[in-house]
Amino acid sequence: MSNRVIIFDTTLRDGEQSPGASMNVPEKIQIASKLEKLGVDVIEAGFPAASDGDFDAVSQIAEKMQRVEVAGLCRASKEDIDRAWGAVQNAVKPRIHTFLATSDIHLEYKLKMSRDEVVQATVDAVKYAKSFTDNVEFSAEDGSRSDRDFLCKVFEAAIEAGATTLNLPDTVGYAVPQEFGELIKYVMSHTPNINKAILSIHCHNDLGLATANTIAALTAGARQAETTINGIGERAGNTSMEEVVMAIHTRPNFFPLTTNIKTKHIYPTSRLVSMITGIMVQPNKAIVGANAFAHEAGIHQDGVLKNPMTYEIMKPENIGLSANKLVLGKHSGRHALRSHLQEMGYELSDDELKLIFKKFKELADKKKHVVDEDLEALVTEGILRTPDIFSLEYLQISSGTTIHPMAGVKMKVKDEFVEGGDFGNGPIDAVFNTIAKLAGTSETTELLRFSISAITGGSDAQGEVTVRLKENETIALGKGSDPDIITASAKAYINGLNRLAYLREHPPKTSEVV
Ligand code: KIV
Ligand code: ZN
Repeated sequence: MSNRVIIFDTTLRDGEQSPGASMNVPEKIQIASKLEKLGVDVIEAGFPAASDGDFDAVSQIAEKMQRVEVAGLCRASKEDIDRAWGAVQNAVKPRIHTFLATSDIHLEYKLKMSRDEVVQATVDAVKYAKSFTDNVEFSAEDGSRSDRDFLCKVFEAAIEAGATTLNLPDTVGYAVPQEFGELIKYVMSHTPNINKAILSIHCHNDLGLATANTIAALTAGARQAETTINGIGERAGNTSMEEVVMAIHTRPNFFPLTTNIKTKHIYPTSRLVSMITGIMVQPNKAIVGANAFAHEAGIHQDGVLKNPMTYEIMKPENIGLSANKLVLGKHSGRHALRSHLQEMGYELSDDELKLIFKKFKELADKKKHVVDEDLEALVTEGILRTPDIFSLEYLQISSGTTIHPMAGVKMKVKDEFVEGGDFGNGPIDAVFNTIAKLAGTSETTELLRFSISAITGGSDAQGEVTVRLKENETIALGKGSDPDIITASAKAYINGLNRLAYLREHPPKTSEVV
């Protein structure tokens, strides 16, 4: 058996099922390009039958990617498979990923199908998908809670019908590592034709065990891991790609496995996904959290200075965290900026570079050290976002211990400038009230959550603000960064309003996928 693990990335499909994480098409393309650079083997770009927006995103990603396989998810029905094929057909390597539940609880309550009907529907779906491409994956949804022998029977029938990858999802995050590893061994030894296919796993993190379950399954013989960047995904999320890859990478004696991931791109990819989805990475998150390489205790700091390996099991630079983060200052020129951005993986057109250079100079005036994370924030806010309906022109506030905080804001709404002011409980509240008034959303939009953190260390660090806004039943995240936290908050709020406007135009899909 080969030791090569296929990394199947589902950030753009299962990851997008994280509450509030919906992305627009240009944002998805940016992430897909970064994933290709990172070296994932398969990008699951979406669920084409779920909505026209999803179909469009999957088709465009399929057309634009140059090396990576592009998969479209579909239920086990002809209409869904037609949509999936329609979306992925122009990929260099297209894959159809069809699924049907196999657990008794899903059969009885959700599908209302007998076991025999499920076997037949699986065979029909795989055969139909196979009429379009040889590259067909079948997933047994809720596989980890399915009867083992029935699961093997379904897999055997799917392989017989032409499936080349069989995926065993722990859909509800119920499995524990030893049990899941044993299940993989059981399936490998009780599915007679399993050697004709790759066995895959797809774990959810409801018990915080997704990475451990994935590793246990790979150790037991699975050879495709379905993962997401930063572990985002439905409910508690999916297995985090960076954790699985770095576990394999860091413990080669224990895991004699290889992947195609270029680990130096892990951190920039994590940042991009976090900035685009608005889902912050918890500071203590393994591998990519802000504290993952920060040593607080004096004894640790002393040890690391003497030899980093005393307290560091991985080198930060191996995941793309530069040891010397100081990159550019206010005297740096346009060429230096372009070549540094290229090193970071951003290829900008001349017009885009002009815009980012201007923003960079403005930032360098306020902040002495401009580091990679600052540049990423500039690129994400300046270019990767789609044309906005609302944008900030300027703001000013008056606040203090003895006055009622007040804000004055000038904004562009579509192509018109509007300005006005309002009061609030504090300066940020006053800014939000004013923006909502100018945007005409005071009555319709509710602020559910506000959080702020520093992008980097140091007292001149940029503040990174995330807001969660609600309009009727739609929730959108907004993100903004700036050395001034009130400006960062205004940018985040306006970004949230733009995202709500986008979701109004492109209503989120309603699907049965869990
Ligand atoms: O969690 C799950 O079972 C899924 C399948 C559709 C693969 O996401
Ligand atoms: Zn899933």
